[in-house]
Amino acid sequence: MRQGLAARGQTPAHLEVPPLVRSALDAAHATRFPHSCSPEVGALLRTLAAARPGGRVLELGTGLGVSAAWLLSGLPDSGRLLSIEQDGERAGRAWSVLRADPRARVQLGDWPDALLEAPFDLIFADCAPAKTPDALPTLARALRPGGTLMLDKLTPRARLDGAWHAGDPLRDAAFAHPHLHTCEVQVTRHECVLLATRTA
Ligand SMILES: C[S@@+](CC[C@H](N)C(=O)[O-])C[C@H]1O[C@@H](n2cnc3c(N)ncnc32)[C@H](O)[C@@H]1O
Repeated sequence: MRQGLAARGQTPAHLEVPPLVRSALDAAHATRFPHSCSPEVGALLRTLAAARPGGRVLELGTGLGVSAAWLLSGLPDSGRLLSIEQDGERAGRAWSVLRADPRARVQLGDWPDALLEAPFDLIFADCAPAKTPDALPTLARALRPGGTLMLDKLTPRARLDGAWHAGDPLRDAAFAHPHLHTCEVQVTRHECVLLATRTA
């Protein structure tokens, strides 16, 4: 539908890529940064953020600000976003885009530093050191009960290398956690995300 509308020049405003996302994508392209979230993940982040009036949102791994911009495009005015990035140049470039939104803050540092400001209503964990079985309980503790954790860039099970058929430790840690309701959602042919909501 979207392609048909675009071909006729009839895309309604709410289906356009949000302007802040466009600016962040331009920054990512300018530096050839290849790790920004997919548009499908961006749309999911926007959907999750939109359900959090007054929500405190945390992102681990800002990159060039693309996923942060998607989160901000959904977040109600009363919400706040903190995004932490270890690489100083990326943090600076992302901030030059995200500073246009007064609800956004970019912190330079290692991901656990941001958890000092817990609890959060929504956490998007998007840096490799935070996407491990060992980090998962820490992330769950940083959620408010009812808060949601999201991890992207998982390979769909059908495409997993044989070495993983006995189980994926990250997925296992999420599904086995006693205070998380977890599900896996395939967002493209090549990508799944984990969604986990804290129950208590
Ligand atoms: C996949 S990219 C983030 C992409 C971004 N979330 C987006 O979708 O637009 C991962 C980022 O995490 C950062 N990173 C890696 N280790 C980190 C750490 N320990 N703490 C904070 N950020 C880290 C990397 O520098 C990189 O920019």
